[in-house]
Amino acid sequence: MADKVEKNICSYCGDAPVNHKLYKLANLFSSVVDSHMVSTTKYAPQFLKDFAGFIPVVLFNTLNKIGLSRFSDDIEKVSSFRSRVIWEEANRRGIKMEQVIIGKKPIEWYRARILGRWIYFESIPIQPEFLDFKKDWDDKIVLKRELEKNGIPVPHHEEVSIFNTKKLESVFKKFKDKVIVKPKIGSRARHTITDIKTFDDFKKAVSIAREISTHLVVEDHLDGYVCRATLIGGKLAGFYMGKVPFVTGDGKKNISNLIIEKNASNNPRYSIKINEELINYLSRSGFKLEDILPEGLVLNLSHRRGQLSGGYTHEFIEELHPSFIPVLEKAAKVVGLSVVGFDCIIPDPKSDQANQKWGIIECNTLPFIDMHYYALEGKPRNIAGMIWDLWGV
Ligand SMILES: Nc1ncnc2c1ncn2[C@@H]1O[C@H](COP(=O)(O)OP(=O)(O)O)[C@@H](O)[C@H]1O
Ligand SMILES: [Mg+2]
Repeated sequence: MADKVEKNICSYCGDAPVNHKLYKLANLFSSVVDSHMVSTTKYAPQFLKDFAGFIPVVLFNTLNKIGLSRFSDDIEKVSSFRSRVIWEEANRRGIKMEQVIIGKKPIEWYRARILGRWIYFESIPIQPEFLDFKKDWDDKIVLKRELEKNGIPVPHHEEVSIFNTKKLESVFKKFKDKVIVKPKIGSRARHTITDIKTFDDFKKAVSIAREISTHLVVEDHLDGYVCRATLIGGKLAGFYMGKVPFVTGDGKKNISNLIIEKNASNNPRYSIKINEELINYLSRSGFKLEDILPEGLVLNLSHRRGQLSGGYTHEFIEELHPSFIPVLEKAAKVVGLSVVGFDCIIPDPKSDQANQKWGIIECNTLPFIDMHYYALEGKPRNIAGMIWDLWGV
């Protein structure tokens, strides 16, 4: 039955469940080791960096020679929509593109023939000179520290790790208003708990986030639209607002039935899932599934936006207030990436940025550029075209 609570896989992982123990171990490894590795590679001699760019070339060609892999020109086997928009644009420009198949499995690695030579890349053809990160930008603390230094708005934040003995009470007391807790290095909003107002909920959130990460971030909860700004070659290329799933009360039906009704009228791919995460989210807003929602009251059901969680996206670049552009472009300059997606929370993207409390919450180094194509509202942006433009092809 649709109104039963789904108890299946971990609801805090959303639409992308992971093995908690392995994920936590991988995260611990990157938290402890990555920051040092990045600083080591920063000072590595150029020939070593060139060699790193050379590894996929040697690897895939060797695997090919011994018959373990091959290159496929079948776009239908493409591993993600993100790579598909890149490939479709390559086809439009007459650039030959192929995918690596290991055994029988197509993987997220590709090659393209540009100016007489093959370039190898993971999903997005980023020029090699931009793959040499100055810092580990996927680390949400490292990023915020650098942006803050450069006067770019970020929410107030604190780190909580199993290695520091800071008492949870003293961390919680540093925040005046509601907070969120999330893994320091994470994605797809896994084990992220928002809207925390009480110390009890804070402790619960810390233990849920700790299931997959030893290092956590506590942040000011920012209110507003969760937006994605994608910058290509330092210029703002796309900007969409993600909207979370919601129901609107009619004074008669309870929340559970409102969800069932909404799901029935939508494509099942976009259905809202009633699970433990949703129930806890509702309870932090003071609601239960059985509550009748007053007429006209709009109730958010999750912090998850995007289509797989019942939310939707709106491409908005043309309506964005121009005051945001220099700030976002400065952020791209700080990280020095040629392809980057910043997640921001903004109460009103149509008004001057200086007059509202907004901030950048994270940086994606391999952003889902396809979201700018499949936005359910607004005019699509051809981000892949802008990426190929950087190669001059
Ligand atoms: N400071 C914040 N205030 C309010 N909501 C937040 C905040 N940080 C994260 N969130 C919510 O959690 C989601 C995931 O956080 P994010 O930092 O983008 O991590 P990731 O996407 O890598 O999991 C966001 O899309 C947003 O809905
Ligand atoms: Mg995000």
